[in-house]
Amino acid sequence: MSRLTQARWARKAREARKAVDRPDRLDRPNRPYEPNGPDQPDRPNDGSLFVKILVTGGAGFIGSNFIHFLLGPENPRRVDCQVLNLDKLTYAGNLENLVDLPLPENYQFIHGDICDGKLVESLLKVGVEVIVNFAAESHVDRSLYEPDLFIQTNVVGVQVLLHAAMRHKIKKFIQVSTDEVYGSLTPAAPGFREDTPLAPNSPYSASKAAADLLVRSYFKTYGFPAIITRCSNNYGPYQFPEKLIPLFITNALEDKPLPLYGDGLNVRDWIPVEDHCRALHLILEKGREGEIYNIGGEGERTNLEITEMILNILGKPKSLIQYVSDRPGHDRRYAIDFSKVKGDLGWSPCYRLHEGLEQTIRWYIDHEEWWRRIKSGAYRDFYQKHYGERLK
Ligand code: NAD
Ligand code: TYD
Repeated sequence: MSRLTQARWARKAREARKAVDRPDRLDRPNRPYEPNGPDQPDRPNDGSLFVKILVTGGAGFIGSNFIHFLLGPENPRRVDCQVLNLDKLTYAGNLENLVDLPLPENYQFIHGDICDGKLVESLLKVGVEVIVNFAAESHVDRSLYEPDLFIQTNVVGVQVLLHAAMRHKIKKFIQVSTDEVYGSLTPAAPGFREDTPLAPNSPYSASKAAADLLVRSYFKTYGFPAIITRCSNNYGPYQFPEKLIPLFITNALEDKPLPLYGDGLNVRDWIPVEDHCRALHLILEKGREGEIYNIGGEGERTNLEITEMILNILGKPKSLIQYVSDRPGHDRRYAIDFSKVKGDLGWSPCYRLHEGLEQTIRWYIDHEEWWRRIKSGAYRDFYQKHYGERLK
């Protein structure tokens, strides 16, 4: 064989290997999956008629925004949509996030745990077609104190959901994951791609990565119709004021110190929750089974830059910034390459960071009762435990 032919063969073999084992998707299933099982009415599986949706963790920040989206004017099929919200109502779940829902008659709340297999099975029997799983313990700092809680909900809970969903022949399962599963980037490195190896650094991100691998195994072993999404840091209405942006907005409004970890130069990519919800809805309708989609906001900033933007918009002094000891294992930088969801589904973020931040600050000013109730409740104990010594 000539050297040219050899090179051509080697290239073809490489391409064939890539086609069989693309690391940006969940690999090919070994078994076909039959979407219309005994419990399910006969419906076409083209994504256009998904109306009965189980949202788990829908009383939290992103889940409640997604339910508002599903029943709001941006969803042309909202009138046909029936949303079940299964939520355990942990400290982060808040039914106040859902009081002013449009089309309340199309919405039902179920108080319960995704780890409760019997409950999940009973819900799926009523003809649920798709599941969008937001339920999770979501705060990195809390995962440092109680990693077991994170494993229970974020790993065991996902396995319970997957297994019940498979038994009931659910037609699509969206696992809402995070860019944190990829670990940390150096300053000049390109953004995370879907085929970037998983390298989680906190108990939170490790539990999310474990769940992603379970989802992958259900697709690969059973042909279960799952999709994984990995989004960057969200901000917007109804975010629990323990995360950077709502904590700093509300502390600044109260003229309290803003506790910036380390040198304040860690970088995150910020996305308005509304843009994330639009991406999730598109993926629900048009995303291909077995795919992983990264979602990003083109909003890379250091924590110090974000803090200064908040203080500027609010007209508050920089003297409110207080540097405190760093978070253990603190990831230095996240950045997202979302060219896949852009190229395949035509999604890109609508809002620029400054505009999104101004709107979010306006929301927290207009919803003072909402966040004051949280900050004066059980959250006070966590704040004291986590920041008490550091802020002295
Ligand atoms: P959140 O903490 O605000 O809400 C989580 C919700 O899940 C709460 O309503 C809580 O009561 C519920 N829950 C917790 N354990 C449960 C259980 N065992 N059974 C049923 N419900 C349970 O979180 P969030 O910020 O809205 O994040 C939602 C999802 O999005 C999470 O899976 C998170 O990993 C992912 N995510 C978040 C971000 C972000 O910036 N917030 C970014 C990317 C991905
Ligand atoms: P956070 O909102 O907890 O999101 P994540 O850790 O999941 O990215 O934190 C965002 C960034 O802000 C992160 O680099 C840690 C930093 N941070 C502070 O500097 N001070 C704080 O009080 C908090 C909560 C976060």
